[in-house]
Amino acid sequence: MLKGKTILLGISGSISAYKMAHLASLLQQAGASVYVIMTKNACRFIDPVVFDTLTRHRTVLDDFDRANESPVSHIDLPKMADAFLVAPASADIIAKAALGIADDMLSSAIIAAYSCPLLIAPAMNVHMFENPVVQENLKKLQDRGWTVVAPGIGFQACGDMGSGRLPEGEELFEWLEMACGAEKDLKGKKVLVTSGATREAIDPVRFITNHSTGKMGTAIARAAAMRGAEVTLVAGDMRVPAPQFVNTVRVVSAEEMFNAVTAVSDQQDIIIMAAAVADFRPAEVASEKIKKKNTGTETTITLTRTHDILAWCGEHKPEGQFLCGFAMETTDLLQNAGEKLRKKKADMIVANSLRAAGAGFGTDTNVVTFLRPDGTEELPILSKNEVADRILDIIIKERGTD
Ligand code: CTP
Repeated sequence: MLKGKTILLGISGSISAYKMAHLASLLQQAGASVYVIMTKNACRFIDPVVFDTLTRHRTVLDDFDRANESPVSHIDLPKMADAFLVAPASADIIAKAALGIADDMLSSAIIAAYSCPLLIAPAMNVHMFENPVVQENLKKLQDRGWTVVAPGIGFQACGDMGSGRLPEGEELFEWLEMACGAEKDLKGKKVLVTSGATREAIDPVRFITNHSTGKMGTAIARAAAMRGAEVTLVAGDMRVPAPQFVNTVRVVSAEEMFNAVTAVSDQQDIIIMAAAVADFRPAEVASEKIKKKNTGTETTITLTRTHDILAWCGEHKPEGQFLCGFAMETTDLLQNAGEKLRKKKADMIVANSLRAAGAGFGTDTNVVTFLRPDGTEELPILSKNEVADRILDIIIKERGTD
């Protein structure tokens, strides 16, 4: 998402400045052009040569001297940038940004920046961070359109515990993707995604589940959030972390997923059901562990049907809502998926065969066919992230962006 983008990083004095080397490397690997401005105090924590090397651009330092690429880097760089992230941001640089003080290269660049998304990631001791003057300054910046990246909570270099840790490079990378990585063509839309596997309890120790890892659903939720939607992810058991920028509702069983979805389904513009929901659950859940000595060599668990959540949403679909389901099959892919499209009253089924190379549980790729009431479209093997965007593209084409 950041390929070809120009990212400006402003680094001020904090022990966490070392994390910016990893971020610069991630950005470079993603194909972004990275420029760095460092304050004098930042240079006491990490040598600018680290960033010269990682970004292949000379790091702009605080002395307005001839070593900088341009004598007016503080004007040129913000003009070129697709996003400007000040991180780690000390209490000092936050105050300068809030008050308009421009007495060094970084604070001057901050004043000169007006056309690109501006992000600031505070990093300092918990007592400094909680000081009302710092909070007021951050509020001022937020009110002026800056995105304030909330610091992490935990152990601090000074020995205190609390809020003020700079998020890791991966998290800052995602904030930059959010700031400038995608067109916000789902802005104002509410999207609900189901993901992962449900677990149906047999007794307090055992359950029935399936191989779903939640990768496909997570990719869809993330893509929708990056494109500006307000996303609710109803997540069963997943092998991958829930993405940033989405409201994740954790559930265990099909019953819990049904309740979580139906509580909010009528407020959604788009519902995409990627979860692998159990069709059956044990009719009775034993309250104590089932012991072998009580069952003999063979035993039977009586199963009963769960709610079909997609079918329920199809029956209760409000006007204008787009409902998309998945179908994972081992035989007769198009026929089975077509039946699901009709029976469950969905607007689209994303069908994939467990037999296709590059599709299935836990893979990073998928091979899917879109089934709509007016036709089918076969896609080549794509990453799950690309499949997620293609699903959203179709929905936007159908429903528009308003
Ligand atoms: N689904 C659901 N609730 C269920 C079962 C499935 O919402 N109890 C949804 C899935 O999230 C998916 C779609 O229905 O979007 C199809 O799921 P799938 O398991 O492929 O099909 P089933 O309806 O279970 O049918 P079958 O067992 O005949 O394949």
